[in-house]
Amino acid sequence: MKLKYRVLGSILGLSFIGTCMYLLNTLPRIIEYTKPSPHIRKLIPRIVDTEAHFSALRKRLNKSNYTSDEFSPETVEGERAQPAGREVIKAHDQKPEKFSDDAVDDMLKKLGRTHPKMFDMEELRVTPYESVLWNIKKRNHKKGIYLPGYTDSENGGGGSANWEKYQRGINQYFMYEPDDPAVDGLMADMEQETVIDVEQKDGGTQLKLIITFQDEGQALFKPMRFPREVETLPNHFYFSDYERHYAEIGAFHLDRILAFYRVPPVAGRRFNMTYEIKRLADRKLAKTFFISPANNVCFHGSCSYYCDTGHAICGNPDTVEASLATFLPPEKIGRRKTWRNPWKRSYSKHRKAYWEVYDDLCDKVRTKPPYNNERRLQDLIDMHIFDFLTGNLDRHHYETFRDFGNVTFHMHLDNGRAFGKSHKDDLSILAPLYQCCVIRYSTFIKLSKFYLGPEKLSNSLRKSLNKDSLRPILLEPHLIALDRRVVLILKEIAKCLEKGIEVENVIVDDFF
Ligand SMILES: *[C@@H]1O[C@H](CO)[C@@H](O)[C@H](O)[C@H]1NC(C)=O
Ligand SMILES: *[C@@H]1O[C@H](CO)[C@@H](O)[C@H](O)[C@H]1NC(C)=O
Ligand SMILES: *[C@@H]1O[C@H](CO)[C@@H](O)[C@H](O)[C@H]1NC(C)=O
Ligand SMILES: *[C@@H]1O[C@H](CO)[C@@H](O)[C@H](O)[C@H]1NC(C)=O
Repeated sequence: MKLKYRVLGSILGLSFIGTCMYLLNTLPRIIEYTKPSPHIRKLIPRIVDTEAHFSALRKRLNKSNYTSDEFSPETVEGERAQPAGREVIKAHDQKPEKFSDDAVDDMLKKLGRTHPKMFDMEELRVTPYESVLWNIKKRNHKKGIYLPGYTDSENGGGGSANWEKYQRGINQYFMYEPDDPAVDGLMADMEQETVIDVEQKDGGTQLKLIITFQDEGQALFKPMRFPREVETLPNHFYFSDYERHYAEIGAFHLDRILAFYRVPPVAGRRFNMTYEIKRLADRKLAKTFFISPANNVCFHGSCSYYCDTGHAICGNPDTVEASLATFLPPEKIGRRKTWRNPWKRSYSKHRKAYWEVYDDLCDKVRTKPPYNNERRLQDLIDMHIFDFLTGNLDRHHYETFRDFGNVTFHMHLDNGRAFGKSHKDDLSILAPLYQCCVIRYSTFIKLSKFYLGPEKLSNSLRKSLNKDSLRPILLEPHLIALDRRVVLILKEIAKCLEKGIEVENVIVDDFF
């Protein structure tokens, strides 16, 4: 009798501890997903399946479990396979900072010899970056369609505000035309226009506001939380990192310099918290304002994770910096499609993704639609190059406009977790590049130009960012990191070519 109770007691005790550990383990992950909808519904059963039991009950997985239609399934900790991912390089391990590399020099020389027309490095060295871009544009020029919702007569009339011109200018091949004056106009408007309404954005783990301006344009507001000097804490995972307003601004400018044109315009602005936010807020939001012990105005709003007094946004004393990302067209005109990134991270502190364990994911991805069309794989790799440059590990999904079909650009939205660690280069972000051994020709030329100089990527970005009213946006270590990372990207290409893969199959000229 007694024994029976004791056994029962220990079983109950153990299950209680088990349940608690399970909840502690999964909770942050569940709430950390910023774009839940259909995905989170799929996610929850998976967590329950694989983590509800302890290791004794856990099935050993092998590669056969991952060859289905899912490109990048998670795998359990403790896989025996050789890791396919790359290490994080600490910059101060390789001092002094060197922005050239023998392998890259050799590659460029060799390419110039074997393919003098495609890779005229001497010409590239003396051509200003602006002209390089111009040549690429002239050579690859394609017209592309505009959003049908704006071209048909019903909505086509449209207004003449800059944000309306910008939205009408969204094209199948770019988020905006590089020389469209409406883009600079829109940035100026976001910095200056009178704010007439403030609303909290639903969903998401961190506070965001929807700002409406007098001209009826709207923008997504992400506030400054920490001074620029504060970097991601070494023990924080990418999925629990705070969003940084300057990262959103920096990412927009970088995308524009690289002539990707895939990030919607973002501008910085200083807000008077009482006059421009609290006064216009609804009661629910206004109620979260308070004065801190240091006599600063603070508020925290309400959201699922970082919205409490301990995570409040505080002014100095009543102004706060924020990034403002312009809105995309409404859903009824610019319907979007969300794609799961095949090289998504596991979003778990315990598990690795397939591509971190095996290096053959690309064989599966490149043969299947949409990645077997003329540009999508190169777009995906461009996206990872962009994220490697900014150090953004948080790219679980990306979006395209439905009306543009599959031969269209990837939008690079949500860059708030970029620029978190200026001294670390996380090569694993480049996994699609070194596992596929593919880079778009035009991207290769642009990076090679920055490698050859004299104008470095850091200079171009510094100059561009100095136009923002919150300058300086990125501190020097983040800018310098870009020059270092350009070398690292080209080094991976050199390795691919050293393996003997045909130049045409590595540096793919898709005329985009
Ligand atoms: C993987 O596991 C399955 C059964 O679970 C087995 O049939 C198969 O041979 C295993 N494959 C490898 C490569 O170990
Ligand atoms: C892995 O695949 C094998 C068959 O290859 C299957 O029996 C097993 O249940 C799978 N494991 C999981 C966790 O899906
Ligand atoms: C912010 O607005 C309040 C209310 O209009 C005003 O009293 C205060 O001086 C403003 N602060 C700054 C820094 O302009
Ligand atoms: C676009 O890609 C999707 C997903 O792979 C595919 O199902 C669809 O048929 C493609 N559409 C076109 C027009 O090729």
